Amino acid sequence: MMHDFRIKPDDLDPDDWQNFRSISHDALSLMIDFIQTIRERPVWTQAPAAAIEQFHQPLPLMPHDLRAVLADFESYIMPYATGNLHPLFLGWVHGAGTPVGMVAEMLAAGLNANCGGRNHIAIEVERQVVRWAAEMLGFPNDSSGIFVTGTSAANLLAVLIARDFTVGDRVRQDGLRKMGAQLVAYASAEAHDCIRQAIEIAGIGSHFLRFVPVDSRGAMRLDLLREQITADRGDAGLNPFVVVGTAGTVNTGAIDDLSDLAEFCRVERLWFHIDGAFGALCALSPRLKPLLFGIERADSVAFDFHKWAHVPYDAGFLLVRNPEAHRRAFSNPTPYLNRLPNGLAAGEVWPCDMGFDLSRSFRALKTWFTFRVFGAEKIGVCIEQNCRLAKYLEECIEKTETFELCAPITLNIVCFKLSQSDSDQLTRQVVIDLQDRGVAAPSTTILRGKTVIRAAILNHRTTEQDIDEFVIALEESARRAMSGV
Ligand SMILES: Cc1ncc(COP(=O)(O)O)c(C=O)c1O
Repeated sequence: MMHDFRIKPDDLDPDDWQNFRSISHDALSLMIDFIQTIRERPVWTQAPAAAIEQFHQPLPLMPHDLRAVLADFESYIMPYATGNLHPLFLGWVHGAGTPVGMVAEMLAAGLNANCGGRNHIAIEVERQVVRWAAEMLGFPNDSSGIFVTGTSAANLLAVLIARDFTVGDRVRQDGLRKMGAQLVAYASAEAHDCIRQAIEIAGIGSHFLRFVPVDSRGAMRLDLLREQITADRGDAGLNPFVVVGTAGTVNTGAIDDLSDLAEFCRVERLWFHIDGAFGALCALSPRLKPLLFGIERADSVAFDFHKWAHVPYDAGFLLVRNPEAHRRAFSNPTPYLNRLPNGLAAGEVWPCDMGFDLSRSFRALKTWFTFRVFGAEKIGVCIEQNCRLAKYLEECIEKTETFELCAPITLNIVCFKLSQSDSDQLTRQVVIDLQDRGVAAPSTTILRGKTVIRAAILNHRTTEQDIDEFVIALEESARRAMSGV
């Protein structure tokens, strides 16, 4: 084994490229082994004090051997990651990644492209993904789109575009006070909290975000939405501007009636935005796509390629029907970003005109690799498989005496609780025990005021046998929690 990785005296390149190549190949092998053997390790392991201690060191002034730093990664970082590669990671809404995405990410880092703008091929790759996203969701081919960190950011961009479209983009200079009546936004009571954040950041104020109650399926009540908007427009004299529908709520995976909402918004002249963080990807499955009927009529859709398409983090995305409205919300003529007729500064619209990031990584590359290598159909098959397993888990839970279901299953999320106890603390203890034992990692949420166990099956590696093992582990953790272990 060669040691003593040295850097050239005058720059940051390796002094000995062969030595660097050998260490890099070892690093790649390390991660391939890690992914290949993912089932052999706990889902999650609490980082011990000795590992955390490694990250309380002073700024390193002198160089360290690359192999030694890689060894530290192997000892102190790799074993204590989130665990979302593991088939029994069932918490929150985490994509599992793929080895192919990992390689693509390495290639992107090698090119080190800055995708804020300019005339280079990475921008064309991103435009290709924008057209694929439009095709996937039935949007016009000339729709605009942009990669962002995640759906939280994409929802924020959508709210800003809807705001400026409604009151005019003078708001960018004049601010909201000169824009007349107070704007009001609408989303279901089950909407993700990032919608509230977006409304706050957009200067509208979360008192003016109406959370419309949901029906027994968890979908927004259109009759109550209509009533609320009439009241806001009437005596209150407010200015409703956007309805945010959800395709796949974070708590239970419920889907709003998108077609009815689209029609309602068309008639009422409201911007219709959809938060489809993970649910929008159901468009890749012919069996699940009908659940999204109406998504093709939205003004904008936010979703994450890093969730159900398993592109490595992060790869959030916003698709917008009206490219001009999109551009007007963000573009900024500024001398140092002047466009030239040819050369590297050519190109009329750059990604920095469509969002507030100027420096941007090449997220499109790992997305392009993922769709090229697997094909959209295969990704859809994996999504379907997750939804089938959610139904299977539902059957298994129904068969136990220990647990009972707490919400209908639309997609891939199963919420349940202890049948013999309503104690929030005991429910939480079951989840902590599963995580601490490293056997599975569901999360918790609160439904109708009670803490429940929430299993979101999002991993392309999860099988029926994994679900069987999960149910056995659940029973064991319930026993341990009830007996105070
Ligand atoms: C419905 C929904 N919206 C928004 C988000 C936020 O997405 P991100 O974490 O990519 O910002 C999530 C995350 O799980 C979600 O499920």
